[in-house]
Parts: sequence; structure tokens; C-alpha cells
Amino acid sequence: MTRHPLRLAINEAERVLAAAGVDSPRVDAELLAAHVLGVERSRLPLIPLVDPPVVEALHKLVRQRATRVPLQHITGRAYLGAVDLEVGPGVFIPRPETELMLEWGLSTVESKDPVVVDLCTGSGALALAAAHRLPDATVHAVERDPSALAWARRNAEARAALGDTPIILHAGDVTVPDLLSDLDGQVDLVLCNPPYVPDGTEVQPEVGEHDPRHAVFGGADGLEVIRHVVALAARLLKPGGHVAIEHDDSHGVVVPELLASRRVLTDVEDHRDLAWRPRFATARRV
Ligand SMILES: C[S@@+](CC[C@H](N)C(=O)[O-])C[C@H]1O[C@@H](n2cnc3c(N)ncnc32)[C@H](O)[C@@H]1O
Repeated sequence: MTRHPLRLAINEAERVLAAAGVDSPRVDAELLAAHVLGVERSRLPLIPLVDPPVVEALHKLVRQRATRVPLQHITGRAYLGAVDLEVGPGVFIPRPETELMLEWGLSTVESKDPVVVDLCTGSGALALAAAHRLPDATVHAVERDPSALAWARRNAEARAALGDTPIILHAGDVTVPDLLSDLDGQVDLVLCNPPYVPDGTEVQPEVGEHDPRHAVFGGADGLEVIRHVVALAARLLKPGGHVAIEHDDSHGVVVPELLASRRVLTDVEDHRDLAWRPRFATARRV
């Protein structure tokens, strides 16, 4: 059997993905090759030659990715912080920019056994990443969509089996006024990556055709869920507790204004992502 240079197979995969309009064709080609070979991407340079079935398997996945199926649906995995999550159809894929909000939130926690709430948890990403980093925390996560909740449950069980402190999952709607009222005034940190894209905004096929609609779009102005989250956070936080809400890059003024309009919230700030776009707003409970 003639073995093939892996580098050439990856070059070809990159060419096909670039022609299909994929944003990061080289990275995706390498991640798909790593997935096929069952190795970390950083190990690829150590594998000069591969057998023909490997090249075939890579081409098959590349053809799928070229139809703009998200990379994470093909590999079945996504990451947030140090946490590896199972994802697929029916749940939002965690994004790298959300890590900045996670880090900001974790840096505010001073209490030894904090209470953390992740609103709109999707796959459980923020809640599970927080539970991993704060083993003494009690972490609650809320999700309305049964399909996303099933992914969150699977991820929560996997993380608990690996030794992380189990999180508490709630099937709930963050727009319902008395949600989590047992926790009123007791929460150290509220994190939320809600649906926030204004309806009608053009998005990439990976998002428009594969992320659940209600996970992405937040009503005509994109703020339908965020308005409720601001009120809920103000009610849940204990004095000195913090809230962080991810938002659309067009909302760098309005979300801080919504937070500042709450008498009990102070130190309102907006934060940028790695591309220097306005990305999340934060505040502290007085
Ligand atoms: C942008 S996704 C974020 C998921 C996860 N937090 C992350 O960062 O990967 C928003 C999530 O909010 C959920 N959601 C939308 N409206 C909701 C509501 N009113 N109450 C609870 N969850 C909601 C969606 O089902 C979706 O899973």
C-alpha cells in the first residue's frame, strides 16, 4: 500500500475548504486531520505519511465541512476554558469569545464557597467551566430548550464522572419573573450568554443552518432576553456579587445602559473581545 504525505492531504483539504468560503480553512483542515488520526493538532507534524484510508476519511469529512456543516458537528466536540463538551444538532456551539467573559467572571469570585448561576446554559459550557475552576462552588444552570438541556445533562454527567463538582440543571425560562427565587440575594456570580443577534441579521451558514434559531436570535432589537436577564441578575445577586452578559457587537452602549438603569447595580463596564469588538457588559451589586 503506497503511503501518502499527510501535508499534501491537508493542503488539498485547505484548498477545498477555502473554495467553499470556510473562514479558517487551514485550521479546519488540520483539526479534521487530527480528528481522523485521533491525535492533538500539535502532533500532526510528527506524522509525515498516512495510509490511503486515512486520506479517504479526511476527504469525506472535508466534503461535509465544505457544505458548511460546523466543524464541531463533525468532530462532535467543542471547548470552553478547560472543559471539553459534546455538541451536535440541537445545541449552540460554544464560542471562543465567551472565554473572556468566563475569565472575567471567575476573577471576581472571592467567597470560599460561592454560588454561581449560568443563565441560558445551552450545552452547559459556562456552568461546567465554572464548576471545573471553582470546585467549592454551587453552580446552577438554566436552559429552556429540552434539546439543549439533554446535551447539557450529558455533558454534566461526563464532567461529574471526571471528578468535577456536579452542577444543578434547571429546565426554566429566564423571562419568567420568579425564576430561581430561592436564590434571591445569594448569588456571587451570574454569567449569561443569551440569544442576542437582532432578528433578520445575516449570519454565516454554519450559524443560520445549524445553531438553533432561538439560541442565536434575540427578537427585533436582539435585546428581548437580555432585558429579563438584567432584572433577574439584579434580584439574584448578593451585595458585592457580579454579573456578566455577552451581547451583540452593536449593543456596547445599550446593554451597559440597561445594567446601569438598575438602582442596585454599579461599576457598569463594557468589555471587548479579541477582535476588539464590544462583547460583554458587567456590573456589581451594591
Ligand atoms: C447563545 S446560546 C448560549 C449557550 C451557552 N451559554 C454557550 O455560551 O455556549 C443561548 C441559549 O439560551 C437558550 N435560551 C433562549 N431563550 C431562553 C430563555 N428564555 N430561557 C432560558 N434559556 C433560553 C437557548 O436555547 C440557547 O441554548
